[in-house]
Amino acid sequence: MTENRVALVTGITGQDGSYLAELLLSKGYIVHGLIRRSSSFNTARIENIYQDPHELNRRLILHYGDLSDGISLAALVAEIEPDEVYNLGAQSHVRASFDIPVYTSEITGVGTVQLLEAIRSAGLPTRFYQASSSEMFGATPPPQDENTAFYPRSPYGVAKVFSYWITRNYREAYGIFATNGILFNHESPRRGDTFVTQKIAKAAARISRGEQDSLYLGNLFARRDWGYAPEYVEAMWRMLQADEPDDFVVATNTSYSVEDFCQFAFEAVGLEWQKYVQVDENYFRPTEVNDLRGDYSKAERILGWHPTVLTPELAKIMVNAELLS
Ligand code: NAP
Ligand code: GDD
Repeated sequence: MTENRVALVTGITGQDGSYLAELLLSKGYIVHGLIRRSSSFNTARIENIYQDPHELNRRLILHYGDLSDGISLAALVAEIEPDEVYNLGAQSHVRASFDIPVYTSEITGVGTVQLLEAIRSAGLPTRFYQASSSEMFGATPPPQDENTAFYPRSPYGVAKVFSYWITRNYREAYGIFATNGILFNHESPRRGDTFVTQKIAKAAARISRGEQDSLYLGNLFARRDWGYAPEYVEAMWRMLQADEPDDFVVATNTSYSVEDFCQFAFEAVGLEWQKYVQVDENYFRPTEVNDLRGDYSKAERILGWHPTVLTPELAKIMVNAELLS
């Protein structure tokens, strides 16, 4: 059924984009990925699926582009006529969004409407997935579900709220199959090095090998609902196979603190985290999201999706991957 379907993935070089591209290729899709021009290679996460432009009948095709460049997005969508577009591209770091708020708004917020306009002007029955975030719930206490009020606490969260609503607006105004996946934190060995789980996992492994002495972190009391990224991209795909466009929370319905994650990661190498972790206030955020825990029952009911890897196992997976690297 999915044989020769065409997908466009923005953010294909990121954690989620790389897993999603693998999933779509395994299902027979032709996958087009948007990549940013960079003076150094930014394709490490998709090296295992990369196909040389000289290969015949390629099923992974990369295109230079940027979410700030609506004209080239429109040209690309018109050229490749995708059945499905997954908008995973973003300035995705919450702490960094306080340093670069305008850029974050342009890419993580306005970039979404640039892409939706490209789809609308092409006039095709393209299905659209928007990478919405639990960060939109911000200060609203858990558990959070599809009916929970948004109260974003960062420029990133505010930009994601814009993208969430513009996605719904294009669904209601133009009948586009446009869906929001409201994903809670999800991690993996491909997680970026500056996100807290990867920072902790890598430090635990390095300290156990004598390559590092200590680990500096910010707020140890923040709580997150951390799931496993490969399972979450499956949920994205299922959303675009559903009968109707809608909005779905994807989470584990469990919540752990940063301290808890330290405990799980250092335990995996037989060390006590308290001996190595120090607090550096430079990592504190001007406004923090204290507690996230997502109720994913709608995704389970309609998409048949549920998580199997919970945070304690996730921490082990990440530490073990680092030990093997
Ligand atoms: P990530 O690893 O940081 O990847 C972000 C991707 O966006 C990268 O491919 C990056 O390209 C690309 N990008 C950045 N700026 C861009 C621009 N101006 N134009 C086009 N592409 C640009 O993020 P992720 O963890 O895979 O997350 C994927 C999406 O889900 C993001 O939208 C994120 O905000 C959202 N989300 C993530 C989580 C989570 O816990 N991981 C939870 C909820 C929502 P480079 O490789 O060139 O930097
Ligand atoms: N990054 C980082 N670095 N975070 C730290 C540190 C540190 O040294 N020390 C403590 N933290 C705390 C942060 O203050 C935050 O409360 C928590 O750890 C998680 O931080 P991140 O791993 O940076 O993730 P995030 O929750 O801010 O954002 C991620 O999840 C969102 C979904 O809720 C990103 O992937 C976003 O793109 C995503 O939307």
